Amino acid sequence: MNVVVVSNRVARAKADEPLAGGLAAALLPMVRDSGAIWVGSSGEPSHAPQTRDSFAKIEALGSGALATVDMPVKHYRGYYEGFANSALWPALHSRPDLIHVTVDDYTSYCEVNAFMSRELVRFNSAEAVFWIQDYHFLTLGAELRRAGIERPLGFFLHTPWADRRTMTAVPHCNDLADAMLAYDLIGFQTVEDRQNFEDYLRTELDLNIVDGTVASHWGLTQLATFPIGIDVEEFSARAIKSICRAEVVRLRDSLNGAKLVLGVDRLDYSKGLANRMRAFDRMFEIEPGLKRAVALLQVAVPSRGNIKAYRELKAELAGLVGEVNGRHGEVDWTPIRYLNKGFSQLTLAGFYRLASVGLVTPLHDGMNLVAKEYVAAQNPFDPGVLVLSSFAGAARELDAALQINPHDIDGMARQISAALRMSLEERRERFQSMVHKLKAASVQSWFADFLHTLADVRRTPLQAATRPIVLELASRRAALGR
Ligand code: UDP
Ligand code: G6P
Repeated sequence: MNVVVVSNRVARAKADEPLAGGLAAALLPMVRDSGAIWVGSSGEPSHAPQTRDSFAKIEALGSGALATVDMPVKHYRGYYEGFANSALWPALHSRPDLIHVTVDDYTSYCEVNAFMSRELVRFNSAEAVFWIQDYHFLTLGAELRRAGIERPLGFFLHTPWADRRTMTAVPHCNDLADAMLAYDLIGFQTVEDRQNFEDYLRTELDLNIVDGTVASHWGLTQLATFPIGIDVEEFSARAIKSICRAEVVRLRDSLNGAKLVLGVDRLDYSKGLANRMRAFDRMFEIEPGLKRAVALLQVAVPSRGNIKAYRELKAELAGLVGEVNGRHGEVDWTPIRYLNKGFSQLTLAGFYRLASVGLVTPLHDGMNLVAKEYVAAQNPFDPGVLVLSSFAGAARELDAALQINPHDIDGMARQISAALRMSLEERRERFQSMVHKLKAASVQSWFADFLHTLADVRRTPLQAATRPIVLELASRRAALGR
């Protein structure tokens, strides 16, 4: 089969550059090693008339290929900064108060999805399988079907799907959910996300779901859960390799024996960064003895900086860091080192290994790969402790982390201090339990499981199905226990 992976954000195989988010981090090695074609935005919207010739560059990516498209400039902002990141992203992360969109943004979103479907037609073949990624392309499957493409269409949502009431705050959400049912298979990070989506379909669209199969006017859609993983061995090897990299050595030397607590996030309101700073502040009040004995390095990579909510967050965090450092700092000790820049995964792996505590405290997160990478990079004989929000998708598998409620500042402060004091025996036990689970659910198995399921789902003929036949098929599948 010819796998065509589609996402807004793509990445190139440059080992020394930071990756922009978990989607790019997961797909880069998968495309490189599987021979898939990865189609996405070039990030450089174009004024050119949108003809077939506007299709942009194709380059090799390991055994696969990367094809980047110049999106139409007229619609790019409304699509990316507007509907995708100022309506869908906040709602999906349970922040409907941050929704700010116009009717034009929705139009642009639909236009860009339609544009992408026209660009994808050239990749259609008797062997093609289309796998669309994330909230930027909820209506792309419907556009591909309208364009006459009959090949398998899969979709994976990297973010959470919030509860029904929250999602209804997104303008046109019923139309979007209906369009999503043009996909044959929809994958979610967690069972809870899938259940929230099912609840939405039942309540808002009045649809029946039998054992994860939905019957709609598009045919059958299978809903399933595929928690995204990482390559544990690769990360562990990187961590060993990078411990003597210049930046890692400089960081270690600069600690003067203090323990390192590490946060690595995009600068995004879903990541719970402000409460994290407050918890660190509170920790020094509860336990003044920890002053000078510990320092937080927070890597906060700028993200979506043209959107007001992100600019405001950046200003808020800069103020908070200044306050905490002003309150507790000494001439030769800074409690919080705060960096607005990214690092390559190789350098990050060295930082992870150096850190006694990995601090991952999102208010909502689809998965959070940083949490998994932190565990994989630890020294098995002397591992650090992962402090993890129970609101991250990763918390389902990483139940041996010290789990925290990111809204409870005091509780977080106490858990960070407990992590710093944890015995070697307990650290090892927790590490072993987590690394075992991470190895059993790698990014390779995520990729393969999704594609196998998609191939299986499509063995049922869907095209001419009328609603009653479709419902009967759904019940039969349920009876077979699939
Ligand atoms: N990352 C990176 N350099 C940085 C910060 C992050 O390469 O300076 C990578 C990190 O290794 C991880 C991804 O970006 O693979 C972040 O994924 P995650 O799921 O934690 O969060 P997202 O940004 O997707 O919300
Ligand atoms: C999250 C989203 C991805 C997105 C990434 C970075 O991981 O799920 O779809 O690519 O953030 O965001 P950006 O807007 O820079 O692509």
